Amino acid sequence: MAMVKIREILEGCCADQKVTVRGWVYRKREGKELIFLLIRDSTGVIQCTIKKTSPSWNEAQKLTIESSLTLEGTAKEDKRAPGGFEIGAETITIIGLAETFPISKDKSEEFIRDMRHLWLRSRKMNLVMKVRADVLDAARQYFKSQDYTEVSPPMFISAAVEGGSTLFGLKYFDQDLYLTQSSQLYLEILIYSLENVYCIAPSFRAEKSRTIRHLTEYWHIEGEWPFADMNDLMKFEEGLMTHVCQTIGDKCQKEFAELGADIAKLKAVKAPFPRITYKEAIDRLKPKNPQLAWGADLGYEDEKVLAEDFGKPFFVYDYPTEIKAFYCKTYSDHSEVAMSVDMMVPRIGEISTGGAREENKDILTERMKAQGLKPEDYEWYLDLRRYGTVPHVGFGMGLERLLVWMLDLDNIIDAIPFPRTTRRFYP
Ligand code: 4AD
Ligand code: MG
Repeated sequence: MAMVKIREILEGCCADQKVTVRGWVYRKREGKELIFLLIRDSTGVIQCTIKKTSPSWNEAQKLTIESSLTLEGTAKEDKRAPGGFEIGAETITIIGLAETFPISKDKSEEFIRDMRHLWLRSRKMNLVMKVRADVLDAARQYFKSQDYTEVSPPMFISAAVEGGSTLFGLKYFDQDLYLTQSSQLYLEILIYSLENVYCIAPSFRAEKSRTIRHLTEYWHIEGEWPFADMNDLMKFEEGLMTHVCQTIGDKCQKEFAELGADIAKLKAVKAPFPRITYKEAIDRLKPKNPQLAWGADLGYEDEKVLAEDFGKPFFVYDYPTEIKAFYCKTYSDHSEVAMSVDMMVPRIGEISTGGAREENKDILTERMKAQGLKPEDYEWYLDLRRYGTVPHVGFGMGLERLLVWMLDLDNIIDAIPFPRTTRRFYP
């Protein structure tokens, strides 16, 4: 008797054959003469029927939701069954009989969030986590195809990347350290050895914002490379995005269909993406938001309005230097503009920020001082400009924001198995 995965049966590989599956009880409906079980494993859900005359009837009666079991029977095609196949059960062996499962249809969102460790078994979370893994694979494929080396930067850091206000501090023995907000500065070190580098690692933000796009711990896809300019950067980012969307569009059709997510928008993603300057963005937004003037940071609402116009991924570039981090390179003839670029998508707004990095030590030192940073905290970073400085660019994309857009999720907390937000860190 072959041990099979449920997906194999649903794909029609085992019709009229004896099969054994291992999994958990997903649903149960009990009649006088027949018990219907839905059994799930990592690959899918299948209906199993147990007749009163079957030797497994007694065991089937005992089964509770989420009990684990081994079930043997005959797989057959049945148009009435969800998925088109079912198993006529012959033997059931209970492995772990479950207590009354706390999650049911009438439970509140809050309750389900507290039960995250159990909710991750739901079809929704199972499918989202699979797509997440495939997105990571596709991103890595693209970086590799372009000759980028994956590197592993530290999470404990001694100086801020993205400004002090969103920095998590911690005691490191008797020292004060932080959790990293971005691996960018470390990638900048590594380009002097490996040139094209990338990492996929957590970033931490002490951000109180409670929106559908903020976590305090998120996964950050970051790339950095030398001898490149803003045009190279945007080309790379649109190449990455197109590859990820096309790959997922081909590979994850079943997952998207079951989640009710629109896969057509992924297949429609093709380079080149529209590019507008920050100034053009302000001009477009002005009629709807008259207070908005050059120099203002674009808020979530502004980005959403812009993104509605495009209906697909696009870039906004050349931001005011004032609102950008110390490392952003500025134009030598108009230093009020920084070479910084955001990729935006509908409903979410910004999903990546990147740009050219200031490569001149003196300008960089001035920028640090202007932002109240102590250059002595960044000596190693300044060394990079002392020893063989090069023009270089890089970007960071939030994996969960990308998934919220791709999968039409209502909230970023469903894009990661164990979300951390201002109020959530359990389990
Ligand atoms: O725009 P940010 O702050 O840029 C950087 O950190 C750069 N140092 C990246 C680089 O150039 N290597 O963050 C980059 C992206 C954002 O566009 C967003 O997608 C995501 O990280 N992000 C968040 N995702 C979830 N929750 C948060 N609180 C996030 N903050 C940023
Ligand atoms: Mg940004």
